Amino acid sequence: MKLAQPPAQEELDAIERVSRDELMAIQLERLQWTLHHAYENVPLYRQKFDQQGVHPSDCKDLSDLAKFPFTTKQDLRDCYPFGMFAVPRTEVVRVHASSGTTGKPTVVGYTRRDIDTWADVVARSIRAAGGRPGDIVHVAYGYGLFTGGLGAHYGAERLGCTVVPVSGGMTPRQVQLITDFRPSVIMVTPSYMLALLDEFEAQGLDPRESSLRVGIFGAEPWTEQMRTEIEDRFDLHAVDIYGLSEVMGPGVAQECAETKDGLHVWEDHFYPETVDPFTGEPADSGELVFTSLTKEALPIIRYRTRDLTRLLPGTARPAFRRMEKVTGRTDDMIILRGVNLFPTQIEELVLRIPGLSPHFQLHLTRPQRLDVLTVKVESRPGFEDRASASAQLAREVKDRVGLTVEVEIVEPETLERSMGKLKRVYDRRDN
Ligand code: DLL
Repeated sequence: MKLAQPPAQEELDAIERVSRDELMAIQLERLQWTLHHAYENVPLYRQKFDQQGVHPSDCKDLSDLAKFPFTTKQDLRDCYPFGMFAVPRTEVVRVHASSGTTGKPTVVGYTRRDIDTWADVVARSIRAAGGRPGDIVHVAYGYGLFTGGLGAHYGAERLGCTVVPVSGGMTPRQVQLITDFRPSVIMVTPSYMLALLDEFEAQGLDPRESSLRVGIFGAEPWTEQMRTEIEDRFDLHAVDIYGLSEVMGPGVAQECAETKDGLHVWEDHFYPETVDPFTGEPADSGELVFTSLTKEALPIIRYRTRDLTRLLPGTARPAFRRMEKVTGRTDDMIILRGVNLFPTQIEELVLRIPGLSPHFQLHLTRPQRLDVLTVKVESRPGFEDRASASAQLAREVKDRVGLTVEVEIVEPETLERSMGKLKRVYDRRDN
């Protein structure tokens, strides 16, 4: 794999070159505008601020943000469908929605300027990932209410790329299009990238020979081990993109190809904090909380993302703080016999065992009133020594996580593949 070349200084947006102090001055001005805009135009915010006894004019410094109340997914649900909009509905040019596992979807809206901002941050993200104007970008994130497809699409166009808007699914055809159109960049969930990898091999093609040299992977957690797996097997640079619909969509934060050391948060538009997930108090690492700084249609104040990470100083873009790769969400955490476990911890261990593939599922059952976790994992093609791989995985989980688990090694190509976000956990403890 060729070394990733950072963009030249003159290729960057002007804001990517400012100092931290300059950035913070811009943030404060934008934060004050956002708080007023939210308070004056969204009844929910007015009610919550009043209840907490704070007023937008109390924000004199960035640290004053901590006095303001949090916003949760439940708040968005309570305002379903358009109650959080801070502009007349006729100024909203687009809506997206996330399905959610229970109840009503959460709906988000964008003005024309919001769509413009979003395209800018995604363009900036693709460039940080190693994409350049003129590249062909294969977008395999789903198009529709999900923000992945259209978010990536507008950003790639904004950067000056040729977009192939494939969306998810029809895996054999994706491989054909990659072979024929020769894109250099692919934007897709890491789990669906694995499905594409299998399909390349099924068609007798060497994935390392493909035209792809940059993969921009996000929408779900993935590990350093998965990065190595994908980079080695495709011979490309795999970088992480983060975002969520309530805050914007993809492009809230992006890893730079030349450093691959966590994701720079585009802090000129999204202000990050981390708090203790239980107490809500500021904490060095914990739940990520975002406040939008420029959004018109749906200003979001101190949104509790449920994603767990840590904020670090900037590197490749010195003024912008980084977030560590998200290891999991508070609501993906499995609590098993008092031990906390994230699926990414299992991913790391599975990928250290040569005979095991990255395809695995976690099944939770309660056969005799005792919780049992079974890791179902596919072996790699041609691998025979299942008994030892299974014992090794169980031992690693015991040693590193402190849990006794069952391991079931299954034939290659037997576990369900993802078309977008992957479902890892199957919880049948109620049955
Ligand atoms: O997943 C937006 C997106 C699309 C991001 C494409 C990146 C690429 P939602 O459907 O609202 O939006 O889901 C947001 O997905 O709170 C995280 O839990 C998770 N997530 C997103 N990106 C990452 C990532 C899109 N890079 C939720 N690593 C977020 C880990 C991620 N988790």
